[in-house]
Amino acid sequence: MNIRQLLSDKFQAAMLAAGIPEDCGPVVAPAKKAGFGDYQANGAMGAAKRMGTNPRELAAKILEQLDQGDMIDKVEIAGPGFMNIHLSEQWLADKLAAAEKDERLNIAAVDQPQTVVIDYSHPNLAKEMHVGHLRTTIIGDALARLLEFQGHKVVRQNHMGDWGTQFGMLLAHLSDKLADSDAEVALADLEVFYREAKVRFDEEEGFADRAREYVVKLQGGDEQCLKLWQQFIDISISHCEEIYSKLNVTLKQEDVYAESQYNDDLPVLVKELLDRGIAVEDQGAIVVFLEEMADKEGNPSPMIIQKKGGGYLYATTDLAAIRYRANQLHADRILYVVDARQSLHLQQAFTASRKAGFLPESVTLEHCAFGTMMGDDGKPFKTRTGGTVKLAALLDEAIERAEKLVAEKNPDLDADTCAEIARKVGIGAVKYADLSKTRTNDYIFGWEAMLSFEGNTAPYLQYAYTRVRSIFRRAGIEPGELTGDIQLGTAEERALAVKLCQFGEVLDQVAKDTFPHMLCSYLYDLASAYMAFYEACPVLKEGVSEEQKNSRLQLCDLVARTIATGLGLLGIEVMEQM
Ligand code: ARG
Repeated sequence: MNIRQLLSDKFQAAMLAAGIPEDCGPVVAPAKKAGFGDYQANGAMGAAKRMGTNPRELAAKILEQLDQGDMIDKVEIAGPGFMNIHLSEQWLADKLAAAEKDERLNIAAVDQPQTVVIDYSHPNLAKEMHVGHLRTTIIGDALARLLEFQGHKVVRQNHMGDWGTQFGMLLAHLSDKLADSDAEVALADLEVFYREAKVRFDEEEGFADRAREYVVKLQGGDEQCLKLWQQFIDISISHCEEIYSKLNVTLKQEDVYAESQYNDDLPVLVKELLDRGIAVEDQGAIVVFLEEMADKEGNPSPMIIQKKGGGYLYATTDLAAIRYRANQLHADRILYVVDARQSLHLQQAFTASRKAGFLPESVTLEHCAFGTMMGDDGKPFKTRTGGTVKLAALLDEAIERAEKLVAEKNPDLDADTCAEIARKVGIGAVKYADLSKTRTNDYIFGWEAMLSFEGNTAPYLQYAYTRVRSIFRRAGIEPGELTGDIQLGTAEERALAVKLCQFGEVLDQVAKDTFPHMLCSYLYDLASAYMAFYEACPVLKEGVSEEQKNSRLQLCDLVARTIATGLGLLGIEVMEQM
């Protein structure tokens, strides 16, 4: 259910009936302050300006035409022409009763499911996964879960970097290493392995030439060489998979569709673009000149798709990938969860593929850009000595720190339970700290803030969940046993009810705009509304009538389930106690 949409439809119809032009929108939004109703429709002001009439009078005319149905209790005109909407208490209670009975909290699947391709995580396999891949993995996975929950068909595409000239150096080094060790051992630490190979490449006589020979052999499809490469890739992927499972992300082996998969298509694609005159030769290279992205002087933006020596580029592969996703995977929508610093590259790829007609007009290409993860010194996140931080080490540290906190908070827990809770809290904290920030901004990675039990954090929400669950344990009741009506007699109950009913519209919003922090803010507001309710409305105290207890327990259960579902969509787990 999407209250905002339902109200928008009602007000739009009333505006039309009042003779207002169709393109004047109703501008419906949740009320900003308590006491001004639950929602506001602010469309009368804009429309009055357009029509040269008095906005308050126009608002009155709209209200004359408004079909309040059983949804709206009353609407008040305020200030220069705001329309403050008060939802009907009975309507809210009915919606909550329906949600309480439904596994999906009465959130229906979308009417028109799309095929959504999401390109995320995509580490480069030459090296160990590092914190640079954390944001894309976390954000991409949350979007995948949420869109799937909405009923869309999500196709995950892990566009791993498994090809390129650096593999020459790595394979030359690997083949030497295999003389006295097996591949697993040699590649146990990819970071170390890469550094060794690089040192040899820079310093050892003859090694750089051998590395270049390997590149040529690899590109020429030499069997021996491909076998070696495959070994390297398999071990690299298994390192990534360990991290995915630790991080509780949904990416599987079958979601890997790496750069090398497009190799055969690259010469075909370049030839086609040349033949069609979309690409031209320029100083030996093959280039697509994009007038659509011309600079201030009118010079088109050049996108090289084949280098002078014949080599293909990252950009060429991305063009092939767009064509594959649109035509083979039948995407309606393609999301790229990629660092903001790649926005020029993606803009070029999007523009060139449109120009080449690689995808139907209706298919959208969206860059879900994100900023950089910073250390508390305000510089990109690094180890103390300035090295890149390995993801595995970072996640282990999160769990360790969480374990200390959990043990402090609840010293009676047995070791296994404590470890399991610490895993959920530590990983949840890292993910939530990322997801709760506006993704396009840089953000500071700080342990204290993300592991705090106060404020907009995972531990706060996980704790709120356990508190609700403990009420049921104390009451000795299972939520399934609750019967009777939901009553919203107090201001706190009503405010909580409105919040609960807004879950669906928040999900719609995140699905559309791809900003997961909106779901985080919602969950935090919901938990705050619950705290206010809990302070004001006793649930199990003596003197509370059976009906009231029943109604309030249903509200509690809805809060717990909404938090669990919402966190679940963010890839964060809850627990019964902590
Ligand atoms: N592997 C690349 C990197 O780590 C990111 C790939 C993003 N996806 C894409 N289709 N270009 O920088």
